[in-house]
Amino acid sequence: MLTEAQEARWNTGAAADRGSPAGIGVTRLALSNFRNYRNTRLALGIGPVVLTGPNGAGKTNLLESLSFLAPGRGLRGAALSEIDRRPAQGETAVIEGWAVAASVVTRSGTVRIGTGRDPAGGERRSIRIDGDPARSQAALSDHLGVVWLTPQMDRLFVESPAGRRRFVDRLVFAIDAAHAARVGSYEQALRERSYLLREGAADAAWLAALEEVMAAQGVAVAAARRETVQRLDAACAEAEGPFPCARLELAGTVEGWLDRMPALTAEAAFAAALADARRHDAITGGAAIGPHRSDLIVRLSPNGVAADSASTGEQKALLISIVLAHARLQRALRGEPPLLLLDEIAAHLDADRRWSLFEVLCQLESQIWLTGTEEAVFAPLRSQAQFLSVRNGTVGETYS
Ligand SMILES: Nc1ncnc2c1ncn2[C@@H]1O[C@H](COP(=O)(O)OP(=O)(O)O)[C@@H](O)[C@H]1O
Ligand SMILES: [Mg+2]
Repeated sequence: MLTEAQEARWNTGAAADRGSPAGIGVTRLALSNFRNYRNTRLALGIGPVVLTGPNGAGKTNLLESLSFLAPGRGLRGAALSEIDRRPAQGETAVIEGWAVAASVVTRSGTVRIGTGRDPAGGERRSIRIDGDPARSQAALSDHLGVVWLTPQMDRLFVESPAGRRRFVDRLVFAIDAAHAARVGSYEQALRERSYLLREGAADAAWLAALEEVMAAQGVAVAAARRETVQRLDAACAEAEGPFPCARLELAGTVEGWLDRMPALTAEAAFAAALADARRHDAITGGAAIGPHRSDLIVRLSPNGVAADSASTGEQKALLISIVLAHARLQRALRGEPPLLLLDEIAAHLDADRRWSLFEVLCQLESQIWLTGTEEAVFAPLRSQAQFLSVRNGTVGETYS
């Protein structure tokens, strides 16, 4: 339900009546049959949004719905059909399909984005931009970047490199939309080559053709990751405040080549290495080298402590500083900052860090979405932010 003030804002589609008018953000959001939301409409100003409510209320679900304004599978990486609202007890209707519709104020004007699962399309996500069907998800990144930090990412530094590669890819992707297609082509060629090698009867010319694709796409993937990581490292180094400075670097064979030789030479080297490794790769499966084995190495500056041996609180602070640096980088490169979805980040921080985090967030000119169970934690934001309380799949305003 909208309050009267919200209804007025909804009807006018008014951009900011609070927060920075220069900023970007979602001014209208409508969810239908999205997880525990049956039918919810929100009208917002640009400027931070704080969602509070008990566990299981639907705070993360709401952030997840916003994460679908960017390409990909959202902040939970869920199957699209999982998101269909499960019928409540006693409700007989079968629910099929969900939808998220938003008006987003960007630097180049307001854009209407609609996305969802149409049951006829199975697991395919349909996307409309200003009412017109978009041919691919990548079209979303022409309008908006979305970056998130969730409690599931707390173990990023201690878990497997695959999670860190996905993290890096998302960061690259927010800046360079073509990155996803490169990663997709590389992985597909890698899978096909592995299959052929496993079967044992592969035609050498066919293998060489796949290796050529792997070399071209793989070097492009490594180069894009490397460039973003270098830029992030520089952006982290410039940051001031009580957050630890993160030093970032990519470790990997192909990235190493790119340090020493031009991309075309690295491509030839990669193709040759793949051809040499066929016998070995046939036994072990996969491929011994390539960007699918790279890793993101993060250290605390100035002492150089590796992120995985830093304290839990320090790891969280490192992640936050990387995400903030990324938001600044995106602002510099795209001309506008991304939407930032920060799920339960305040709880891990001491009061000093929390205050300065809020201060930094308010300077980003981007709409920041924050969640937590305790409203009091966000008290310093009381004059700038919109406070919404979430309960059982419904959203209401708290402070006005
Ligand atoms: N497809 C779905 N249909 C209905 N409810 C769902 C669906 N998926 C998750 N939920 C419910 O959403 C709630 C969790 O919401 P979440 O946003 O994670 O809560 P929190 O406020 O703690 O972040 C749980 O009660 C869960 O059962
Ligand atoms: Mg949650």
